[in-house]
Amino acid sequence: MINSKIRFVTALALAASATAVYSHGDVAPQEVDTEGLKELPKDEWLSENPYRGNKEAIEIGASAYNQNCARCHGLEAMSGGIAPDLRELTKFDDEYFVNKVRNGVQRNGMTYMPGFEDVMGQEAIWAIRSYIDKRHYEYKDKDLAELYEQAE
Ligand code: HEC
Repeated sequence: MINSKIRFVTALALAASATAVYSHGDVAPQEVDTEGLKELPKDEWLSENPYRGNKEAIEIGASAYNQNCARCHGLEAMSGGIAPDLRELTKFDDEYFVNKVRNGVQRNGMTYMPGFEDVMGQEAIWAIRSYIDKRHYEYKDKDLAELYEQAE
């Protein structure tokens, strides 16, 4: 009884903080259709992008990024200053990326970024990662052909 009460209060607090975050953006998180991409484990998270350079993943990721991330991280991942510029991330940041996106960022009771694990599967999060990889290549003037070659 006491336990369920505590759980209820916690849920309310979470709902309130989520509302605070979404109220200045446009919408709640959007589900992502990842059909066509290789399926990934449901219960075990990879630490490296399995879709790097995969053009279909990049396309799905671009649309998922626009719907879920652009309002804070900027159109085409060009930061307007309210959240970090994701184009700076390198391929060594895969695990860091996935952990941030799954859990979001909370500090001192404030939600700076919502977690997406409950709305997006592993496929969708790596698809977004693939799009960010591409934006990194463009930003750093690297050869995109080299990125596409990395697709399995
Ligand atoms: C409500 C605004 C908001 C939304 C929506 C949002 N983020 Fe963030 N994100 C932030 C903020 C603010 C930070 C910096 C948090 C901090 O102070 O550590 C951040 C940090 C990150 C980081 C760590 C970056 C770094 O350089 O350390 C990653 C990766 C990231 N976000 C990815 C995403 C992705 C991918 C999405 C969409 C699925 C997303 N975010 C949606 C606000 C947001």
